[in-house]
Amino acid sequence: MINEMQARYQLAQAVARRAGEKALEMFRQRDRLVIESKGLQDMVSAADRDTELLIRAEVQASFAEDGFLGEEGGLERPDARFLWVIDPIDGTACFVNGMHAWCLSIGVLCDGKPVIGVVYDPNSDEMFHALEGHGAFVNAMPLKATGAAALSEGVLGVGFSHRVPVSAFVPFLSRILSDGGMFIRNGSGALMLAYVAAGRLIGYYEPHINAWDCLAGIVLVREAGGIVNDFLAGEGLLQGNPIIAAGEKLYETLVATINPQHGSQQTPQAEIHATLV
Ligand code: IPD
Ligand code: CA
Ligand code: CA
Repeated sequence: MINEMQARYQLAQAVARRAGEKALEMFRQRDRLVIESKGLQDMVSAADRDTELLIRAEVQASFAEDGFLGEEGGLERPDARFLWVIDPIDGTACFVNGMHAWCLSIGVLCDGKPVIGVVYDPNSDEMFHALEGHGAFVNAMPLKATGAAALSEGVLGVGFSHRVPVSAFVPFLSRILSDGGMFIRNGSGALMLAYVAAGRLIGYYEPHINAWDCLAGIVLVREAGGIVNDFLAGEGLLQGNPIIAAGEKLYETLVATINPQHGSQQTPQAEIHATLV
């Protein structure tokens, strides 16, 4: 089992680097890309599709029995023991507009549990990687989530998409600022979760995110000593869920700031969903 896990961990990093180099070449020639719209503020280009095809081909060449869930290509072999959950380019709006905040995100579930997280940022050549029980790293350097205990002690990453109503998000931003906090949205949820693992951001909140955006980041944050909500609850894998991640001393404060009703009889997931209406 350890070997099966290690082999996939090594492959995830190797394939992220190779696919990342190809994606970087396309980024540098992005004026040649045709950009299509998948919805409001949701874009795709051949760079996204080709990068996902490359990752799928390399994984299948080594582990033909493994399953796959990718943003562009959908779900294959959902009942497989190992399921690779991929966003070939997270931060597409940055990618197509010439900004550097984009990355490749590769998460692996084993028996439904997130065990491997790899987020590769080709522009900075930063490989964030974690294997359950073995810690989180950027390149060879170990990562530790923040020790901050208050929102005023650092910068919080936030994400928003038009998959949720604007009114579900703006009051939360107001509470962050009122508490002396500050927020940043760089356009890549996967990269911001990696930054939470690295202690660069004190936490991350997005009212709805998809599994391919965050599964790698979840493993990174947990292995760096941070806390993440139960993202896979309900239909999280296929339909997405809210994501909340923070250093362990800050997590409860962040949850209470997202939903001031925190502590009532609701389940944590219901509490989080309560912020959406
Ligand atoms: C998006 C980014 C963004 C997040 C959205 C995602 P994409 O992914 O991660 O930061 O706020 O929820 O959809 O479209 O750039 O792959
Ligand atoms: Ca994404
Ligand atoms: Ca994407």
